[in-house]
Amino acid sequence: MLDIQRIRTDFPILGREVYGRPLVYLDNAATTQKPRCVVDAMTDEYLNVNANVHRGVHYLSQQATDLMEQARETVRRFIGARSTAEVVFTRGTTESINLVASSFGQAFLGEGDEVVITEMEHHSNIVPWQLLRERTGIKIKVCPITDEGRLDLEAFVRLLSSHTRLVSVTAVSNVLGTVNPIKEIIAIAHAHDVPVLIDAAQAAPHMPINVQELDCDFLALSGHKVYGPTGIGVLYGKEALLEQMPPYMGGGEMIGKVSFEHTTWNELPYKFEAGTPDYVAATGLARALDYVTSIGIDEIEAYEHQLGTYAYEQLMQIEGMNIYGPAPSPVVSFNIVSPSLQGRADGGLIHHLDLGTLLDRLGIAVRTGHHCAEPLMHRLGIEGTVRASFALYNSREEVDSLCDAIRRVATMF
Ligand SMILES: Cc1ncc(COP(=O)(O)O)c(C=O)c1O
Repeated sequence: MLDIQRIRTDFPILGREVYGRPLVYLDNAATTQKPRCVVDAMTDEYLNVNANVHRGVHYLSQQATDLMEQARETVRRFIGARSTAEVVFTRGTTESINLVASSFGQAFLGEGDEVVITEMEHHSNIVPWQLLRERTGIKIKVCPITDEGRLDLEAFVRLLSSHTRLVSVTAVSNVLGTVNPIKEIIAIAHAHDVPVLIDAAQAAPHMPINVQELDCDFLALSGHKVYGPTGIGVLYGKEALLEQMPPYMGGGEMIGKVSFEHTTWNELPYKFEAGTPDYVAATGLARALDYVTSIGIDEIEAYEHQLGTYAYEQLMQIEGMNIYGPAPSPVVSFNIVSPSLQGRADGGLIHHLDLGTLLDRLGIAVRTGHHCAEPLMHRLGIEGTVRASFALYNSREEVDSLCDAIRRVATMF
């Protein structure tokens, strides 16, 4: 079992107060806090190693390059990729998915070809495909969810056709907390010869990922959601696919030889890393993944499962509580019906923004709104939710604080 009180001391920010109250940080699906070791590793690199990577013959440049390539190896191990050639550093999940939409789209997708996504996707796994649709005339097909907030797998199978060229699906919903059966989805898609992109933004902090076991073709994640810095993420792609895809951006690093007549591309993964990369963030991400590994991703998953179960049970005892999505999960979205607001068109929901704002005054940081998943809100028939999302450093006491605060705030309506 995790020693939460000890783990919390690794995260200085958790000791601070807001509005004179202890901070209860429950907005981890938006971004996680950073352990001191991540900040220290980045500070050390800036203060003692800093130099541009891959280009210099001098000592510091080689040292910085070594750190960046060690970071790539750490990522490779963390996600179980076969080779570092398959690990592309990006700015985050959003850029990783845009890279695939643009580059895979250019190589393999044309008018009438179909990309299957789902009703529970984050905007970053919807809009890149819409942009591609405007450019090339592809079709986007959307797999529906059930009333319990799970993917409708039968509908998914029916959506696959001889025109399907890619399935792009999230591993874990950032709103419902639903953990999708991605291994099964990948197997089904592969039986139709269709490659699969997994959005692992919400999976990477909470569960083991092994791209070879999953056999996914692409996988995207963000460093800042897994205790690492902002501005760095990963695109995993199978080498054979990445080899066939054109560069996403042009510039330094990604070239072999340049002349005004003809330019050749660098080898993988550099073909997809134009310009000076955020090598210091790469070091920070590697340190964060090492931190997660040192605690144990299986232990984290087990602890968060217990915490999610406890949160669900406690929240369900609150009068008027509506939780969206299947429990338990480290992501809990809800609204509260107030008896005094009954009879209104929205069924008497306390507005999520009001609830979130008042919880904030009590020191509880939650997120409110559509969570970048507007189509999912339409499906649920609501404008938004309050979302409490947990990380490895959250405690049962914090769940109790959340529940106490909700009870207190709800009486104000
Ligand atoms: C499921 C999911 N996909 C993609 C993203 C986008 O991540 P980023 O903004 O780090 O690129 C998020 C962020 O909330 C997410 O939850």
